[in-house]
This record gives sequence, structure tokens and C-alpha cells, in this order.
Amino acid sequence: MVASSGTTAAIVVDDVVMKFGKTVALDGLSFSGDEGKVLGVLGPNGAGKTTAVRILSTLLRSNSGRALVCGVDVARDPYGVRQLIGLTGQYAAVDEFLTGWENLEMVARLFRLSRKQAKARADELLEQFDLAEAGSRPVKTYSGGMRRRLDIAASLVAKPRVMFLDEPTTGLDPRSRVGMWSVIKELVQQGTTMLLTTQYLDEAVSPTALW
Ligand SMILES: Nc1ncnc2c1ncn2[C@@H]1O[C@H](COP(=O)(O)OP(=O)(O)OP(=O)(O)O)[C@@H](O)[C@H]1O
Ligand SMILES: [Mg+2]
Repeated sequence: MVASSGTTAAIVVDDVVMKFGKTVALDGLSFSGDEGKVLGVLGPNGAGKTTAVRILSTLLRSNSGRALVCGVDVARDPYGVRQLIGLTGQYAAVDEFLTGWENLEMVARLFRLSRKQAKARADELLEQFDLAEAGSRPVKTYSGGMRRRLDIAASLVAKPRVMFLDEPTTGLDPRSRVGMWSVIKELVQQGTTMLLTTQYLDEAVSPTALW
């Protein structure tokens, strides 16, 4: 697995080992990513990308090694790390039967935003992700690209400092892929540090060149 980055390290992975039974998913993985930049993590199927994201987002504990997010150790202070991050998994995690707007409002309420703030945040994110019109429809009527955008919007409700995106562009058509890059660009310009996994060399080696 190869990692590349564009002055302060927002993400540090140091000699991380992760085994599932006899399978060694990560064999001493090390990389770091600067604050306010995009870090692309490239690897084929089974390389350990999702495993690395799960460790960094405190969903999984490594066997050994160290991982830090904004200087906070994921194993020692997982709660502290969770306050700093947003996560969009490889598979969409939105509720099919709720509308796009209802999904975002629900997440905002879970983050303890007031009813009024939650409504405003849902409106704002739908607008930003070009889903304002679709916002009143149940998600089960959305295309794959629309679901992906809603999923990313949901992970941004709390305005995280560091965002993990697991294969945000996989399964998107070229136009939606470009749209996803403009969303990522906007977030990074607002100061979010972004770690994204990809199977595409151009995205990992020079993400900003795609802007
Ligand atoms: N919970 C688990 N139990 C057993 N093995 C696992 C588990 N999670 C991952 N693995 C194994 O660890 C290795 C890395 O998997 P991982 O999902 O991190 O790869 P990936 O790079 O995200 O792949 P993809 O591009 O297909 O998403 C694989 O061999 C996988 O089978
Ligand atoms: Mg994966």
C-alpha cells in the first residue's frame, strides 16, 4: 500500500500491525498526513485500506503500533478522536426509507444540535451537495452517486477537523466523480484534513491536480 501527501501532521500511522487470524491485513504500516491537506491512500482489493481507516477512526484496535489523529492516540483516547473526525465508509450508511433531508436532520439531532440548528444544517448540506431538489424524496429513489453524496454530507454534519473517506469515487460515473472532487476541494479549502482511499493512481498520487 502506498500513501502520498501534499505542516503539522494531522494523521500519523506508525508501524501498525493488524492481523485477523492468520491473515496479516497490515504489516507495519507507517505514513503521515499534514493538517489541511488531502492524503490519498492507494491499494488494490484487500490491501488493507478499509482496515487502516477503521483503526484511525477507532472502530478497530490494532495489534501493535501507534496511530494519532491531531496528536490524539486512537487506542488511548478513542472518545477524544471521535470528537475530531468524520467517517464515510465504503458502503452507504443512510436510511433508505427516510428522505435525504430527514437523514441529515436525524444525524444533526444525534449530534445534539437544536431542532432549529439541525434543520438549518440539513438545508445547508443538501444545497452544498447538489441534493436540494432530491432532499424531499426517500433515499431508496436515489441513484448510487446521489447516495454517496448524501452519505458524505451526513458525515460532515458536525464539521469535523479530519475526515476519512473510504473509496469516495468508486462506482461513480465520470461526472459524479468530478462532482465529488469539487466537494472534497471545498472541504479542504475550509480547513478539513482529508484522508481518502482509492484504487485510482491519479487520485492518490496527485489529488489536487484533479481540481
Ligand atoms: N473482520 C475481518 N475478519 C477477517 N479478515 C478481515 C477482516 N477485515 C479485513 N480482513 C482481511 O484483511 C485484508 C484487508 O482487508 P481490507 O478490507 O482492509 O482491504 P481493502 O484494501 O479495503 O480492500 P477493498 O479495495 O476491496 O475495499 C483482506 O485480506 C481481508 O480479507
Ligand atoms: Mg476497502
